[in-house]
Amino acid sequence: MIPHFLLDAKHIESQLTPNCLALISVLAVFESIDSTNRYLISQAQENAPSGSVCFTDSQTAGKGRQGRQWVSPQGANIYGSFLWHFSSVTQLNGLSLAIGVGVVRVLKKYGIGNIGLKWPNDIYSDGKKLGGILIEVTSHADGKASAVIGLGLNVDLPQNIDSITQAYTDLKTIAPHITLERNRLIADLLNELIPLTASFETQSLSAYIDEWRGYDCLKGKVATLYVGKQAIEGTVQGIDDNGLLKLQQADGIENMFASGEVSFSQ
Ligand code: BTN
Repeated sequence: MIPHFLLDAKHIESQLTPNCLALISVLAVFESIDSTNRYLISQAQENAPSGSVCFTDSQTAGKGRQGRQWVSPQGANIYGSFLWHFSSVTQLNGLSLAIGVGVVRVLKKYGIGNIGLKWPNDIYSDGKKLGGILIEVTSHADGKASAVIGLGLNVDLPQNIDSITQAYTDLKTIAPHITLERNRLIADLLNELIPLTASFETQSLSAYIDEWRGYDCLKGKVATLYVGKQAIEGTVQGIDDNGLLKLQQADGIENMFASGEVSFSQ
């Protein structure tokens, strides 16, 4: 069951833990905006601090990975981003995998167990996409880096949207008996993801990698990895300790990949 309340900053804030609240500097909630990632990137250019957070009921130009559009109809799903500053760009390695683990943890607390992670940062259920993470990084002249971490999570997304070209699902479909209220779910996500991000420089990916491997829905699958226009076929062997994808090609040689888009048939 999904009551369709509009998003409300006060309602979200009232459900944040003291730890999370102390780490959040601004929580902006919009009815509509072009893109929460774009908004926070522009706020970062105006020296916005770590812990600037933004959620919206709809996006008119939601961004997905690889330059794709993220379809963002009003009131149906979760679209949000937050900004965090890091001491260097290398401190961010593996952050998107850790964020994926954080999202699965939250959904498991609701009793939603049938969730997997598809490298590098898709949230999957039943072989269909449930959500995605888009981290946009800006490197600064002094060696520091800022990351805008965006999350799109399908809560109640109409089926048969023509402009979505991949199989997708939503929480209403995979957990029809669970009551989900988006303000509450956003607070739960922030309570998990903000402290996780704040401690990531000291924790690093090693604190999350075993858990990520437990949710890996690609391991053992025959798949095609697209790196730019190149298509590389192989069997996915999981991820290495740095979060790189291990792909064994037909000649038996295993190669590691830091980025790319994986396509697989179930
Ligand atoms: C993907 O392609 O899987 C990543 C999708 C990320 C979408 C979210 S929605 C909130 C935030 N704002 C954006 O414009 N994109 C991200």
